[in-house]
Amino acid sequence: MYPVTLTGRVVTLREFREDDAASSLAVIGDDRVTQWLSFDSRGPAEADAMVRGAVARAKRDPRDEYYLAIEVERGFAGFVRLGFSGVEAAKLGYAVRADQWGKGLATDAARTLVQFGFAALGLHRISAAIGPDNFASIAVAKGLGMTYEGRIRDHVFTNAQWRDSLLYSVLETEWLNA
Ligand SMILES: CC(C)(COP(=O)(O)OP(=O)(O)OC[C@H]1O[C@@H](n2cnc3c(N)ncnc32)[C@H](O)[C@@H]1OP(=O)(O)O)[C@@H](O)C(=O)NCCC(=O)NCCS
Repeated sequence: MYPVTLTGRVVTLREFREDDAASSLAVIGDDRVTQWLSFDSRGPAEADAMVRGAVARAKRDPRDEYYLAIEVERGFAGFVRLGFSGVEAAKLGYAVRADQWGKGLATDAARTLVQFGFAALGLHRISAAIGPDNFASIAVAKGLGMTYEGRIRDHVFTNAQWRDSLLYSVLETEWLNA
């Protein structure tokens, strides 16, 4: 499905555009954000490449991900992503620029994309792998009604070291019957 625009309570989720590279630096170029992600902070050239990659991948048919920009009234606020992995399954990821934290944007964006994943894409399972100390993200996952499944050891190499992840998931039946 392309292009996709989804409306949440306060956020709009939309496809990336090539002119998002500069504003996306507020997310992927900020150590306060990337310390919790599976990659280190990126500079302008890398941000440009990431955004171009997202724009190109969105046009693949079939798609292997829905990597959408989070837009609020003031503009670009972050991203949310469903990456297909396994049978009718996807991995959820999200990040919000630090000056917009604590306003419910990640919860709204994730809820909107998860709803799309189950209702429109027919997914069966959506999971999120979260750093053990990432209490904000754990709160987002719990707020979505995700269940803790276990700890993945040395799951990602980031900030110059291996890091475990806590695995959370929600199934289609749980989501649609909640
Ligand atoms: C995780 C992140 C996306 C949350 O974004 P956000 O828009 O601030 O999240 P929300 O405002 O929707 O808050 C969600 C919950 O987290 C809670 N929260 C926020 N910061 C917190 C913290 N430091 N410790 C504990 N809980 C926290 C909020 O109180 C809220 O809980 P509630 O719904 O029970 O009130 C944001 O902190 C971020 O971008 N972090 C860096 C990237 C990242 O960690 N991505 C996820 C990787 S798994």
